Parts: sequence; C-alpha cells; structure tokens
Amino acid sequence: MSDSPFFTTRDSGAPADSDEHSLTVGASGPIVLHDHYLIEQMAQFNRERIPERQPHAKGSGAFGTFETTADVSDVTSAAFLQPGVTTEMAARFSTVAGERGSPDTWRDPRGFALKFYTTEGIYDMVGNNTPVFFVKDPLKFQHFIRSQKRRADNNLRDHDMQWDFWTLSPESAHQVTWLMGDRGIPKTWRHMNGYSSHTYLWVNAQGVKTWVKYHFHTDQGLEFLTQDEGDQMASADTDFHTRDLFESIAAGHFPSWTLKVQLMPYDDAISYRFNPFDLTKVWPHADYPLREVGRFTLHTNATDNHAQIEQLAFEPNNTVPGIGFSPDRMLLGRVFSYADAHRARLGVNYKQIPVNAPRNEVHSYSKDGGMRITPVSDPVYAPNSKGGPAATFGGQHEPQWAADGDIVRTAYVDHPADDDWGQAGTLVREVLDDAARTRLVDNVVGHLLNGVTDPVLERAYEYWHRIDPDLGARIKADVAEKQDEGDPKADEQANPARSSMRAKV
Ligand code: HEM
Repeated sequence: MSDSPFFTTRDSGAPADSDEHSLTVGASGPIVLHDHYLIEQMAQFNRERIPERQPHAKGSGAFGTFETTADVSDVTSAAFLQPGVTTEMAARFSTVAGERGSPDTWRDPRGFALKFYTTEGIYDMVGNNTPVFFVKDPLKFQHFIRSQKRRADNNLRDHDMQWDFWTLSPESAHQVTWLMGDRGIPKTWRHMNGYSSHTYLWVNAQGVKTWVKYHFHTDQGLEFLTQDEGDQMASADTDFHTRDLFESIAAGHFPSWTLKVQLMPYDDAISYRFNPFDLTKVWPHADYPLREVGRFTLHTNATDNHAQIEQLAFEPNNTVPGIGFSPDRMLLGRVFSYADAHRARLGVNYKQIPVNAPRNEVHSYSKDGGMRITPVSDPVYAPNSKGGPAATFGGQHEPQWAADGDIVRTAYVDHPADDDWGQAGTLVREVLDDAARTRLVDNVVGHLLNGVTDPVLERAYEYWHRIDPDLGARIKADVAEKQDEGDPKADEQANPARSSMRAKV
C-alpha cells in the first residue's frame, strides 16, 4: 500500500484505477480498446520528444537574478539597466555542433544565452564564450554548421570537412585560434566568460546613440580542461558540465558573472581602424576600455528540464527600448532566424510557454494558431475606434542607424586595419603565454592528424603560417614528425573513412 498523500489521476484529473495493470478480459485474456488510460500513457510517451535545436542541441541552464550595480543611464534608457534595478532571468549554456546526447567536453565554442524578464518586455542576449565568430555573412552560417556536423554518406563527423571549410574561409582564422586554444574546452560552464560578440546600439533618454559590446566575466575564474582531460571526461561523464551546474546550485554554490561593456561613440564607427560591425574582429580594450554595468547570479535549478530549459526559446530580436541592433550582417540574419526556428521546433505560440512568456502585460494583435492558451479579446484589428491598443510613434523604441546606397551582394568595405589574419596573430603573440601557445600547437596538430587529407592539410599549414609564421612552422614540423614516427592517428590519413570514425571537434 502506497504512503503517498496523492492518488494517481488521468490527465483529465479523474482517478486512475491502477499504475500497473491494463484492463483485460479475465486475467489471461486480451486488452480491451476502451482502456483509454493505457492508451493515454502510450500516446503521451510516443510524443515526448520534440526536435532538438539545429545547432546548440546539447545544453542546460538555470534561473537567477541580474542586478544593475553601476549607473549607465548616460548611455541607455533600458529600464532594467538603471542603477539598482534587479531583474529575474534565465540562462542556458550549450555546445554548438553535437547532438542532444553528445559529450559536454568536446572541443567547441560554448553558447551563453540569457533571457531577462524586464518590465519593458523580454530582453535576450544570445552569445558565446568567445568574442568573435567563424564567418561574417549569414549566408555562410548554414554551410559552416553543416561542415561541423555529420557527413551525408557515413553520418560521421569529419575533421577533413571542418578544415576544408575553415581554410577556404580565411575570415574564420581568429575564431579557430580561440577554439583550438584553452577556450575550446572550459573546465565547467561556471568557469567561462560570455560575450555578445556582436555590436549593439544603445540609446539614452535624450536620444544619444552609442555602439556597445557586452562581456560577462565569470566570477569563478577562467579555467579549462586540456584535450586529454576533455577526452577522458567525455567517456567518464558525458554530462559533466550539466551535472556540475545543477549540483553547484543545489549545494548553494551560486555562480555569478559580472557584466562589463565596451562603448564606442556613434560617429567613431565610420573611421575606426577595424570595421566595428565585423563579427570576426574585437575592439582592442586599449581603444575602448571595459565599463562595469552589473552582475547576475544563478540560484535556482529547473524542476522540469523539458518544460523550463528544453523549451526555452532565445532570440536576438527580443530587444527592449534603449537597445537596438547594428549593421552587423550576422546579427541582422539572426534577428530573423531564431523566431523562425522556434515556430518550427515549438509551434507558433511558443511565447506562451511560461519560461518564454513576458512578465509584463502583453497587448499584441497576434491571435489563434496551434496551442494558443491566452485568450484574446476584441477588437482584433488596428487601427480601430473600439478602445484596442494603439502603437506609439514608430521608431521611438527601436533605435536605428543611417544607411543608404545601392542594393548589392558584396563583402564589407574594409577599414584601414582590417584583414583576416592580423587579430588572430595578435592573439597568438600578445595574449597567449608560452604554455598556452604550446597547448594551441598540440591541439591543432592532434586535430589535423585526425583524418585531414591533402590538399586540405597543405592549406591548413598555409592558414597557420599566415596567422603567425613561427606557429605555422611548429605545426607543420610537428605533424610531419608524428607522421614519420608512425603516430596511429597519422596512419588514418591514408584511410580517412576510418579516421572519421574518431572525429570530433
Ligand atoms: C542557437 C541560428 C550565429 C549563439 C541557434 C539556433 C539557430 C541559430 C537556428 C537554434 C535555435 C533554437 O532552436 O532554439 C544562427 C544563425 C546565425 C547564428 C542563422 C548567424 C547568421 C550565432 C552567433 C552566436 C550564436 C554569432 C553567438 C555570438 C547561439 C546560441 C544558441 C544558438 C547561444 C543556443 C541558444 C539556446 O541555448 O537555446 N542559432 N546562429 N549564434 N545560437 Fe545561433
């Protein structure tokens, strides 16, 4: 006899007669069709899985609070960024290329997605743990992700196609240098930074505009796993990062991150030495120093991972008054893509799922559609003379920028210091120390020896030579040495099909 204070109900709320026995004709007879409780159990189970996110399928998250600790009212009027304001929020961290069950410690950028339930509507900051990205035009994003996922023929991941894409896309050099270095396998999600990567536009109460980049610095300190540690952990505990976050919060060790921003006066964008909207470039801190804004702390775990984390829907188009986009083409592409992905993955009314729903009142004219649960009321059209909501003057809440010109398909116009290799070389020479440079070389060599074939391999040598000639020479010499030594990984170059069985980012 159960000592539970609750009796089981059917989904309708009426009592279920048994947790164990189907309805049968006698003890050894057939199951009857009117055992609708059995059918409810089977049918519900068969529909439990929803499509995984296309990229960033493996991840997890938690809930917390953001507090604005400094005064940035001179640069943004956003209500949640005014001094002393606290805002409830959700966070999800993820890997990019692996599927929903893939190991947390594969080498990959990490997603760093935040949702703020502000008094002016939802604000989403959907970033990564690196400040730059592999490509700078949204037309290349889909191809890039496919090159990191699985081949058509054997359904395996394949370093050869990864390096094929990267070496034919020199704009990837800066992000690949980050990825192959220590940032490629954070020790845990608590030990990594988050970046908007993109440039956004802030506007203050007087209408003055400022370009901005966000940096979320971990208060736990930056830590990483070596390639060997990551490989071992991938088999010892596939869900290591997921477990670490959940258990830390459950034990009362609440991780936090400090938000700092780089601010660029609006007119500087025209003449700055780097194109400030090029997602493959950073703004050196010497040019635009960090300014503190606030801090968020994650203190609450989900109680239902599917309802609260898997169904979280982040979208860079969720902005609030005081914050707008920039001419970064990648950002503008993302402003379309995410809501489209959510409609496909979760259904058109995904914003009514409690974790995605605004905490302020909604007065939109959206109505109907599958799974709509929030009732709408008349009038259902605008303009109307029946007392329905009326939009305030267009443009007031969404800061924009000046643009004109012919409609073209072309690369960005370079600013004086723009090229694909320069900032990657600076990262290698001036940011990394000797030990970090050696780990970078080892990680690249290990990756190249894992199934990369000519002529892609030759292009990879050239790629690293252009980033830094010394580093390129070390990589080429190390690969050759290991091939001569008969490194088992090197043998795989003669047999790329076999090598791709081991391939992972
Ligand atoms: C997830 C598209 C670039 C960070 C996704 C998803 C799509 C997508 C379709 C899955 C959304 C879902 O099903 O919930 C794109 C496109 C890009 C782009 C079209 C470029 C044109 C970027 C960049 C960053 C980024 C540059 C970081 C700076 C993320 C993160 C997630 C994600 C963190 C996971 C969000 C979550 O935890 O639910 N992206 N993406 N993406 N993307 Fe992107």
